[in-house]
Parts: sequence; C-alpha cells; structure tokens
Amino acid sequence: MKVVLHIWRQSKKSTQQNFAQDGKMVRYELDHVSADMSFLEMLDVLNEQLTKKGEEPVAFDHDCREGICGSCGVMIDGQPHGPQRGTTTCQLHMRSFKDGAEIYIEPWRAAAFPVVRDLVVDRASFDRVVQSGAFISVNTGAAQDANAIPVPKPDADKAFDAATCIGCGACVAACKNASAMLFVGAKVSHFVHLPQGRVERELRAKNLVAAMDKEGFGNCTNQYECEAACPKEIPVRVIADMNREYLRSKIKEEPPSNKRVGGDG
Ligand code: FES
Repeated sequence: MKVVLHIWRQSKKSTQQNFAQDGKMVRYELDHVSADMSFLEMLDVLNEQLTKKGEEPVAFDHDCREGICGSCGVMIDGQPHGPQRGTTTCQLHMRSFKDGAEIYIEPWRAAAFPVVRDLVVDRASFDRVVQSGAFISVNTGAAQDANAIPVPKPDADKAFDAATCIGCGACVAACKNASAMLFVGAKVSHFVHLPQGRVERELRAKNLVAAMDKEGFGNCTNQYECEAACPKEIPVRVIADMNREYLRSKIKEEPPSNKRVGGDG
C-alpha cells in the first residue's frame, strides 16, 4: 500500500506555548508499505529512506514495541495512539489505514510535556508525580506475608485495572484541559484497593494531587476523552477513587486549632 505522511518536524527542544513557531508539518510519500507492518515499522522504513538521502530521520520514542513501556505515544490523525481503541502506537498496524491514506502524525500537545524533537516529548513531569507518592514505603514483609493477606477478588481486580497504566500520557494528550487525572487516579486506585497500600493513603492522595497541580496539568471536566484514548482502557472510575481519597485526606487532617487569633485572653 501507499501512504502520504504529514509529520511534525522540529529540530530543537521547546515549550508547547508557541509550538507553531518551533516546527512544521512536512509531507512524505511512502510506497510499498505492508499492511502487516506496525506503525513504528512503517516509520522505520521512512527513516531508512531519509537517511539514505542524507536527510534527518524522524525522531520518535519507543522501547518495548509490545504495548508495555508507554514510550511510543503520538497523535495520529488527531487521536492519541491512532484510530484503534485500546492499542498503543507500537501495536497499531498499517492494515488500520486505507491504501493511499493521508496520515497526520504529531507529538502530544500539553504544556507539561515539552517537545524534545519531532515526535518526542519530555514526560518527566509524570516521573515527578510518581516520585511524590505513587509507591508503598511501609514494611510489607516478604512475599509469603503478602500471600497470607487475603484480598477480596473485586478489590484485586480494581487494583489490577489501575495497575495496567503504562504512563504513556495519552490521557493528557486527549483531554482539552491537559488533565492528568486518569494517570494520577490510576496510581491512587492501584494502591488504595490493596491492604498494603492503605497505610499511607491520606499522604499519597495529598502528595500526588499537589504534584499534579504543580506540574501544570489541568483539571477534569468529565469529558471522558481520557478513558476513550487510554490504550489500557483504564476506566474514569479511578478519578472518582482519587477524588474520594483526596477528600478523605482533607477530612482527616488535623482540625484547626481552637486558639484565639490576636489575643491572649
Ligand atoms: S514502545 Fe513500549 S508501549 Fe509502545
């Protein structure tokens, strides 16, 4: 098959504020594309051709190419990870496109994800959110201790659903507010449905929400675009978990002092 690609080309790192000044869409025609190629393999073929011509290959992120690492996300025809639901860019195949298709490929667009080059964005903001509390720091014992704690099946399922988040950033890219609430909700929900994660639940919810706000992500206005774009199909229920945990943490905060202000009598 033949495809016409319109790819965002940008040679230097920049914020997303004035992105139109920093790069542009460039048109490429690609022949003899196999329908069985993955989307990234198709980009590999393009890059081989560009390199042979002495042109700069298109920079794009990837690692596992198995839908696990979350590094390969790009906007394809305005949709994070492209047209196939529940699929990462690396697991998308060219048979999802018609022969002769014009395909538009751009990096994620969100202020918290500055563009590094071409299709590569810096998602270190997600790492900083995770560092603020998406972990368990209490002693949970050895493996046999974990096995000895019974976890009801519905709770285990909810925790596992959330734990499938690969941190790709599609939720942020899909949201008109660039909200990271599906991502942060997944981290909160993953731990709060397990006994080991409940010990630090208040601190975790507060810290994760504070870190998310500090990084400049927007708020959720219930558009559900994140759920539709998530390659792991994480449900928006995790955002409700996050909101509930955050509220709980606020209620459990120290009550305000009864001391009178401005007097000693
Ligand atoms: S390259 Fe790892 S999820 Fe696509």
